[in-house]
Amino acid sequence: MAFTQEDARADLVAAPGSEWWRTAVIYQIYPRSFADASGDGLGDLPGVTAHLDDLQQLGVDAIWLSPFQTSPQKDAGYDVADYRDVDPIFGTLADFDAMLADAHKRGIRVIVDLVPNHSSDQHMWFQEALKAAPGSPERARYIFRDGKGENGELPPNNWESVFGGGMWKRVTEADGTPGQWYLHIFDESQPDFDWTNPEVRAEFRDILRFWLDRGVDGFRVDVAHGLVKAEGLPDFTPDPDGGSMGGDAEEVPYWGQPGVHDVWREWHQVLAEYDGDRALCAEAWLPTVAQTALWVRPDEMHQAFNFHYLETEWDATALRDVITESLRAYGEVGAPSTWVLSNHDVVRHASRLALTAENPQGAGIGPRSPGKPDPVKGLRRARAATSMMLALPGSSYLYQGEELGLPEVIDLPDDARQDPTWFRTNGERYGRDGCRVPLPWTADGPAYGFNDTGESWLPQPAEWAELAHDVQVDDPSSTLTLYRSLLAERRARTLGAGHLEWLDQYGDEVVAFRNGSLLVVTNLGDDAVELPAGEVLVASGPLDGERLPTDTTVWIAAA
Ligand code: GLC
Repeated sequence: MAFTQEDARADLVAAPGSEWWRTAVIYQIYPRSFADASGDGLGDLPGVTAHLDDLQQLGVDAIWLSPFQTSPQKDAGYDVADYRDVDPIFGTLADFDAMLADAHKRGIRVIVDLVPNHSSDQHMWFQEALKAAPGSPERARYIFRDGKGENGELPPNNWESVFGGGMWKRVTEADGTPGQWYLHIFDESQPDFDWTNPEVRAEFRDILRFWLDRGVDGFRVDVAHGLVKAEGLPDFTPDPDGGSMGGDAEEVPYWGQPGVHDVWREWHQVLAEYDGDRALCAEAWLPTVAQTALWVRPDEMHQAFNFHYLETEWDATALRDVITESLRAYGEVGAPSTWVLSNHDVVRHASRLALTAENPQGAGIGPRSPGKPDPVKGLRRARAATSMMLALPGSSYLYQGEELGLPEVIDLPDDARQDPTWFRTNGERYGRDGCRVPLPWTADGPAYGFNDTGESWLPQPAEWAELAHDVQVDDPSSTLTLYRSLLAERRARTLGAGHLEWLDQYGDEVVAFRNGSLLVVTNLGDDAVELPAGEVLVASGPLDGERLPTDTTVWIAAA
């Protein structure tokens, strides 16, 4: 890809707005693993409230909470049974309100996760659908179809679930006979809604209002590319090497269908009725940056996760290209680019950036995986990568624990694993448990300070004592201190609202740019390079005199 400096400038021209979400650093809380006030081994909302001071000191602008609504937890809460309540394992609606008020008091905005593609099979609507007859309005809220074959014994098409196995499950009708099939892109406990049904659309507009009325600042929209399926549900065989959430295929009949844009326009209108720049962020895995940018046109969503950036290998040319293309494509539609390196679905970047084998999205790594990462190299690269990311104009997402430099937990025992991916593939794919292990807050506390009882829904590795928050907080060389310095400097220099200008005097293996008064240089090559003149504000690792060693980023005040 050949991009000019003019392409990279498009971001400034097209994005004159000053809404908070254009520049915010948003910290993802995975509630079950953040902090556990009740002591049952699963994190909860009072646990979040108890650590808001730490998040304020870290310097983030907003938090996004993964689902905490009522759920049988078959997919860690991404299987919602009641969209308007808090699951008792996480607390109560009053706990939510208290958390929200305390966050707002500290100037921290709050985004909640919304899962519109599917519900839990325990949702009242699905239970009603099971009891109702084929063709009934109750069934029409989901995607029920007759099977193929003489007696309907074959699934309606050949689609494969993201979590492994088929995408259809056959039900038993009220009279005890084998009946229709329903579609589930994910686990069979997660039936897909039919978004062509106006009743489904009205229900979700109402759910948006329920949380907006409580004061949330926006929504992270789960599987935003899945809601609408191609007419006639045609057969489709995915590329076996592609990612299961969308991969590179241009035309997938259940991903990125044009009909979703009407839904976002409707939702945009709902949010616009409220004050305070409420925002929608799409979790959409699409083949190109340019396609993803169509989701954030001025009357649709406000942000979309930049998974193209997350998936870019540790290579200077590839990084320059994806950054340039992101600023260009999002800038063209007047949206900020977002940047992200880790979340609850991918191998943590302190491990991923040193992996030496292919690792499709969602596959995870475990004891028998090839190409295990070198942890020292992984952390060095992660620190350099984050230091690059936080200097980019736009909005950045952080995933809880990356500020402690947590690696993926590779050696989880088989019998501790809980991700449906692990079960549905009979252990062929490890899934995502390795990035979801509860956080270490104190080196000496029970469960490293996750709670007071020592319970933990996934076992924490012994090495995490050294990575605990209390060990790092006053250590000038810790990853936590690095994050705090980066965030403070980013805020002071308003880097999120800045403008990127490439510096190309460093050669192919270096990523170097200027954002306002800041010079940022990342060395991805083996040989150390000369530092630019100016005061070193932050360095992601030790410098070699006047030289920048491999896998290191430096922030320098332009002379
Ligand atoms: C999204 C979530 C993931 C979940 C899936 C199904 O990709 O991030 O954790 O399993 O949707 O809801």
